[in-house]
Amino acid sequence: MSEPILTARGICKDYRDGDDVCRVLHEMDLTVQRGEFVAVMGPSGCGKTTLLNVVGLLTPATEAARLELDDVNCLQLSDARRTALRRDRIGFVFQRFNLLSTISAAENVRLAMQLKRVNPDGQVNTVLERVGLGKVAHRKPGHLSIGEQQRAAIARAVACQPALLLADEPTGNLDSANAESVLRLFRDLHDEYGLTIVMITHSTECAKAADRVLHMRDGRFVDD
Ligand SMILES: Nc1ncnc2c1ncn2[C@@H]1O[C@H](COP(=O)(O)OP(=O)(O)OP(=O)(O)O)[C@@H](O)[C@H]1O
Ligand SMILES: [Mg+2]
Repeated sequence: MSEPILTARGICKDYRDGDDVCRVLHEMDLTVQRGEFVAVMGPSGCGKTTLLNVVGLLTPATEAARLELDDVNCLQLSDARRTALRRDRIGFVFQRFNLLSTISAAENVRLAMQLKRVNPDGQVNTVLERVGLGKVAHRKPGHLSIGEQQRAAIARAVACQPALLLADEPTGNLDSANAESVLRLFRDLHDEYGLTIVMITHSTECAKAADRVLHMRDGRFVDD
């Protein structure tokens, strides 16, 4: 029987723009079952990244009736507990990668694992090989192509075997061969140890890798 790993109800998010307040997410509900692979699609600016940041505990909702991750009520957590929950349970692939620029791709992966108290020995190279970065992992992000940086960010996110992977356009900068290998990696992790994935994508082709596709428009889920 399936059980939710993520339950969000009535999520609203406002951004302030000078004197104006702009509502970006309108009472959104989202349930993701443990082990599910969900794709989220929608036009640029409709709020996909904002939604991912709220359910990933990076940004507080302006209003929320319920936000639970792994049975933990996230609406009443201290900052320290929220940070710890995020660190221990969630892997992020950011739209802008957010790799540390002063250390190599391999060190980015190693550091993420150490921060999550996962023993990196032997695992760093394995995961980098898996995303096809074995030969360039010693380089700093500035000396990698955009597609290679994207794959380094993916390696960093999946290296710690998070319970929930939140991926913001993880194939947005990749050619079709590399996009396919990243999606295969996601499917493999999903099949091998039940990784739950929420993936934002603009590509109908990439969305086919998911079990379920959600469509967003103007801060709401719509039928298609
Ligand atoms: N920090 C911010 N302050 C004010 N407005 C913001 C901020 N971040 C995002 N927005 C606005 O919120 C809306 C949703 O942004 P968001 O980044 O969530 O869109 P998106 O669906 O991820 O778009 P894209 O596909 O281009 O990445 C946009 O209109 C954007 O301009
Ligand atoms: Mg975005």
